[in-house]
Amino acid sequence: MNPTTFIIFGVTGDLAQRKLLPSLLSLYVKKLLPAKFFIVGFSRRHFSREDFRQYVRENMNIRAGQYREEDIKHFLDHMCYEQGTFDSPASYSTLALRLTAIDDGFHRCSNKLFHLAVQPSFYETILDRLSESGLTIPCGGNEGWTRVLVEKPFGNDIETARKLDAKLADLFKEEQIFRIDHYLAKEALQNIVTFRFANALFEPLWNYRYIDKVHIKLLEKNGIEGRGEFYDPVGALKDVGQNHILQMMALVAMERPAMLDALHIRSERAKVLSRLKVITPKTVGELGLRGQYEGYTSEKGVSPASSTETYFRLEAAIANSRWKGVPFFLESGKGLAENRSEIDIYFKNNEAGSFGTNDHTRDPLAGQNVLTFRIQPDESIKIRFWVKTPGFTFNVEPKTLKFKYADFPPEAITPDAYERVLYDAVVGDQTLFTSTDEVMAAWKFITPVWHALGTLPLTMYRKGAREVL
Ligand code: BG6
Repeated sequence: MNPTTFIIFGVTGDLAQRKLLPSLLSLYVKKLLPAKFFIVGFSRRHFSREDFRQYVRENMNIRAGQYREEDIKHFLDHMCYEQGTFDSPASYSTLALRLTAIDDGFHRCSNKLFHLAVQPSFYETILDRLSESGLTIPCGGNEGWTRVLVEKPFGNDIETARKLDAKLADLFKEEQIFRIDHYLAKEALQNIVTFRFANALFEPLWNYRYIDKVHIKLLEKNGIEGRGEFYDPVGALKDVGQNHILQMMALVAMERPAMLDALHIRSERAKVLSRLKVITPKTVGELGLRGQYEGYTSEKGVSPASSTETYFRLEAAIANSRWKGVPFFLESGKGLAENRSEIDIYFKNNEAGSFGTNDHTRDPLAGQNVLTFRIQPDESIKIRFWVKTPGFTFNVEPKTLKFKYADFPPEAITPDAYERVLYDAVVGDQTLFTSTDEVMAAWKFITPVWHALGTLPLTMYRKGAREVL
């Protein structure tokens, strides 16, 4: 593989330190990075090269004994630091010189992967400066590619997303743009497609005739963990609803792609998202709820008068023939009782009444089958079904069939989502990245929902609450 240079904007930030650099280290140790590679960290702080490496070493969040010291040292040897400000043309001229020097060392024009791990408000500035300094143009004709990785949230509403998209499209071709939604790179999420289409058992039932409702949850125990400055202007709906939750929904609801490749899968995901029914201020009272955990407004970086939601619940619907009348409950919040990302699919009980249960009052799901995709933790797929209770009656009771990822041998341990994201960006596979159509369809739904939800009063909840009512 051609040598590759990773340029990380915002390298001292939380995302780079907690996710990107550890993932690159892991890929390096697994020998999945190109044999020749270099990482250039770009940020505002002042560091010498040595101090930068020391900072990375201390912040990378590596478990004791996870890697051999010499592997970590060799990895850090592939790194350098470029101090600069995002809006200063001079910083990009220095960066360009640095990249040329790295290429001289490789004796060729390396691939360049620009990763924007910064607050979204800096995207435009960085893209403008990259373009003015000529860094968006690959240096060697067909020798080395240039790609750009953009984190979510992609824009702040449909208008800003369109503007950002137009800017990217001016500078790059679609195959050079990698819009990250790291949920798509989670192994358990990818398995939804396989599970649906590789098992003939489920597809005939995958529609409104047999499915009663779908519940998609992304629940988190932590609060905002010092990310107030980022989170407060964004809120739960835009932070995870517009992207992670809608992507989970798209995988459950999309039609079978003609082929299992990036083009077809992305197009089916976009199509189903574009059929989401609009929620208006008139209907939102019945279909939505927004909440905030107590104490949120005293957190660092949060406005004391903030009415940002840290929790939302929505009843969404898809206007197509497969999903006629099926409610999709979408729910996410921080500061809740547990960490759980999960999709529950409730099947109708078309045989209701034929069998008795031992105790109807104790089981509100009596007679229903429920298929659960547990995305994390304890990744698994399980089906709740009914068996006859041994004895003289035809009473039934629920049991569970379960597949756990932990049952795979340890060497098959699934890569972290960011490892997959970075690996796929290097090999150029866009399947697990969102297309412009998907992002626009998601914003087209979320923008009016956000306005509508904003008209509802906030429901306050205690940190650690099991339910928000
Ligand atoms: C990020 C959000 O995209 O996803 C965070 O910005 C959220 O607020 C996180 O906590 C959840 O991702 P994961 O992989 O930790 O479940």
